[in-house]
Amino acid sequence: MQDHFKDKAHTWDKGTVQVNGAKVIADAIVKNIDITKDMEIMDFGVGTGLLGFEIAKLCKKVYGVDMSPSMLQKLEEKNSPELHIEAICQDIVKEPLSMKFDGVVSSMTLHHVEHLESFFQSIYKNLNENGFIAIADLELEDGTFHSDNTGVHHFGFDEKTLHDAVSKCGFKNINFEKINTINKPQRDFGVFLLTARK
Ligand SMILES: C[S@@+](CC[C@H](N)C(=O)[O-])C[C@H]1O[C@@H](n2cnc3c(N)ncnc32)[C@H](O)[C@@H]1O
Repeated sequence: MQDHFKDKAHTWDKGTVQVNGAKVIADAIVKNIDITKDMEIMDFGVGTGLLGFEIAKLCKKVYGVDMSPSMLQKLEEKNSPELHIEAICQDIVKEPLSMKFDGVVSSMTLHHVEHLESFFQSIYKNLNENGFIAIADLELEDGTFHSDNTGVHHFGFDEKTLHDAVSKCGFKNINFEKINTINKPQRDFGVFLLTARK
């Protein structure tokens, strides 16, 4: 399996866009979802754990799923007995997990998923009854967000396309909110949070 994040992993946590962006996403998730100490939560595309560790402070356990061994190595370096994420190195689009979670969070990973409906179908199966999804990613953009678009299947998302995909897979209480604007020299990029329940 090709590791598209091999070169990015060692400096990922030095990027202010990544670090500040994940903090804003964590705050928005906590504002929208009541995360409790008994919950087991999947962070899809956990990377180095920028979002996952914020969520891990609030719940029983975070399972951090990522297909990049180099990103997960950075995550493991940050693991401690007090604050721990269980890493799962797997492309869950190709090989879905059979485990069940109380929720799935995700930051800036959905644009790497080619077939949205089959992804949401498999995530739906991963959720306990009334489980939640809280997925943040870019609003529609012009393809200039990334300097290299290898592995990028969507230049952001429009609300209707995502709403339709999620609703078709059985999710309810679907909500979108613009939560951040990332300023880059070339232009501004909007970030949304999609939340829904099984
Ligand atoms: C842009 S990074 C975001 C990392 C982290 N969520 C953050 O906000 O800092 C996207 C991550 O998703 C992972 N990823 C992309 N597609 C995936 C898949 N199908 N299964 C598991 N991980 C995936 C990549 O390896 C990468 O680490």
